[in-house]
Amino acid sequence: MGSGRLAGKVALITGAARGQGAAEARLFAAEGARVLLGDVLDDEAAAVATEIGDAAVSRHLDVTSDDDWRAALDDVRARWGALHVLVSNAATFTRARRITDMPADEYDRVLAVNQTGVYRSVHHCAPLIAESGGGAITLVSSVNGLLGSPGAAAYTASKFAVRGMAKVAALELGPLGIRVNSLHPGAIDTYMISPQVFGGVDVRDNIGSTLPLGRVGTPEEVAELALWLSSDAASYCTGAEFVCDGGMTAGPFRSRATNA
Ligand SMILES: NC(=O)c1ccc[n+]([C@@H]2O[C@H](COP(=O)([O-])OP(=O)(O)OC[C@H]3O[C@@H](n4cnc5c(N)ncnc54)[C@H](O)[C@@H]3O)[C@@H](O)[C@H]2O)c1
Repeated sequence: MGSGRLAGKVALITGAARGQGAAEARLFAAEGARVLLGDVLDDEAAAVATEIGDAAVSRHLDVTSDDDWRAALDDVRARWGALHVLVSNAATFTRARRITDMPADEYDRVLAVNQTGVYRSVHHCAPLIAESGGGAITLVSSVNGLLGSPGAAAYTASKFAVRGMAKVAALELGPLGIRVNSLHPGAIDTYMISPQVFGGVDVRDNIGSTLPLGRVGTPEEVAELALWLSSDAASYCTGAEFVCDGGMTAGPFRSRATNA
């Protein structure tokens, strides 16, 4: 049971069928919010909503579709009459490919979800959040919105774009009572760093051993930061970058022994 840190709030979370989005939906509901879970994985999203109970509902929401966005916002309006919180979390990571090997259509597909999809989320949700008296928008970027990784040009470009978009949105929406921040997870134990994405190889221990905290993060750890940013506890934070990465971007790190 939570302590009501989102009591009375209505939240929309994209990419909430699994991973960090699902952890955020569970935590936000436990803290008193009513939550719409949007995703393209309909069965998985419905299962998470059912597990949460009356405070949650799921619906098909492909972040690249304006029609889906309009229908989702109509649903929120009809159901709850307001929206206070958006976590724009949905994203895709295709297999690692160098720029010279990446076809343009694959590059465009990543940007359509991770970048233009995030633009659409703000475009469609901000008016209802303003009408509802203001609130908080969290745009989920990545450590790849702060640093590049070889083989991840489209993903990195999209996540830098999200970081920039949060700043513009903070400037434009602050006067309407809406705070906008970017959230930068490091390596988090979800599908995105699973063996399915990395050609059958389990990269989690290897990545963990390169980090000051010695392990990858959990979706629940990131959800705590998303909750804080979405709650009134963060009432003076906007246009800023919030990192949750076990020290990945703190600086060069060789090994736990040599850095000790
Ligand atoms: N896991 C990591 O190591 C890591 C690191 C840095 C940033 N992130 C970011 O964290 C966020 C959450 O990712 P995750 O780690 O939970 O991975 P995940 O793959 O488990 O979750 C991503 C979710 O987004 C959904 N999605 C994909 N395309 C969509 C679309 N067009 N419309 C709606 N939903 C769509 C997927 O179905 C999935 O449920 C993403 O923005 C990701 O880029 C993850």
